[in-house]
Amino acid sequence: MPLTEQLLATGRKLLINNYGRAPIVMSHGEGCVLWDVDGRRYLDMTAGIAVCILGHGHKGLAEAISEQAARLHHTSNLYFIEAQIRLAEALAKRAFAGKMFFCNSGAEANEAALKLARRYQAVVRGKPQRVEFISFEKSFHGRTMGALSVTGQEKYRKGFGPMVGDVRFIPFGDADAARAAITDRTCALIAEPIQAEGGINLPPPGYLQELRRLCTERGAVLIFDEVQTGIGRTGTFYAFEKEAMVPDIVTLAKGLAGGVPMGAMLANDEVERAFEPGTHASTFGGNPLACAAALYVQQAMDDQNLLTQCKEVGAHLGSALSRLAERRRPKTRGSRGRGLLQGLVLDGEAAPVVQKARERGLLLSVAGGSVVRFAPPLVVSKDEIDEAVAILDAILVES
Ligand SMILES: Cc1ncc(COP(=O)(O)O)c(C=O)c1O
Repeated sequence: MPLTEQLLATGRKLLINNYGRAPIVMSHGEGCVLWDVDGRRYLDMTAGIAVCILGHGHKGLAEAISEQAARLHHTSNLYFIEAQIRLAEALAKRAFAGKMFFCNSGAEANEAALKLARRYQAVVRGKPQRVEFISFEKSFHGRTMGALSVTGQEKYRKGFGPMVGDVRFIPFGDADAARAAITDRTCALIAEPIQAEGGINLPPPGYLQELRRLCTERGAVLIFDEVQTGIGRTGTFYAFEKEAMVPDIVTLAKGLAGGVPMGAMLANDEVERAFEPGTHASTFGGNPLACAAALYVQQAMDDQNLLTQCKEVGAHLGSALSRLAERRRPKTRGSRGRGLLQGLVLDGEAAPVVQKARERGLLLSVAGGSVVRFAPPLVVSKDEIDEAVAILDAILVES
């Protein structure tokens, strides 16, 4: 029996059935290529859901992790951690100056942001009535109760109610709706600068600046969830940099440690004061292992010029997808994205196309139901992009 079959039989017996998994067990990888346990090759345009930004099987990253693991892998936040401090120093050089809290996932980073905003309004500003969160239709912020409560997609929330209260959803990209929604009951507004899971939805130019202006004017905290768009995914370190503005709080995860589980919440000096010793914590958060990996990622991004690479190869992908969309109308409705977060919008469900691609050795994912998402490692080459787009094209011709 092939090893895949053996492992799937045991996996299906023992693992909770909460994922719609493809029947593949990966063994190892190199760059943008993965091999399964039976030796099949896959060209990876998913990077583990926008995570493995340096690619797979990266020797330098592996060495940084193993060197740290051999020396010290966990001590807890009862003490200061050298790798955490050095990572904070590296992140502080990017486009958001402030203080940081480290955790283990995107959902946790958003939980921290929501809690910090509530405490800031209640304790620092003395406005305990400001409890309402404003979020967006089609948003995605994670699966924990708080993050789920500000996620604007019913399919993720169904069966889990009641949600954490006082959340209002408004349409993304509509400045008038935001103007009408932010009141003296608003605690914070939480937004993805580009909605990723919801279908790679880009806001109109100037919209993020308008959110900033409204939140400042009305005393609401502005939280940007850059869990998927951050760490260079869209060609700038943060996606919000496109609009020359900064939020009060920004959350990160996914690419942060190149695939080692890690999240972060960064807050400006005004808002971060709301957390004092004992107000929030994580046993594993910012442990030496994850921080060493993240520090390596920061250095590699600069050494390999990954932001420039992402812009260039992302532009190549963007125009290849837009030509593909034109060629295959009416099966497609266009393409959209920025940097190496791009989507081909289909006239129908994306899942069957993604499945066919997988059967041909190309890994893609679905966003927002009808969008085929490309979020490859930031080290992807133009040749690899061309190979992926050609496979996708052939599938569209046949389907
Ligand atoms: C924008 C955004 N926020 C939060 C999350 C949740 O991150 P995690 O799965 O690490 O909890 C995701 C995951 O896809 C995301 O895309």
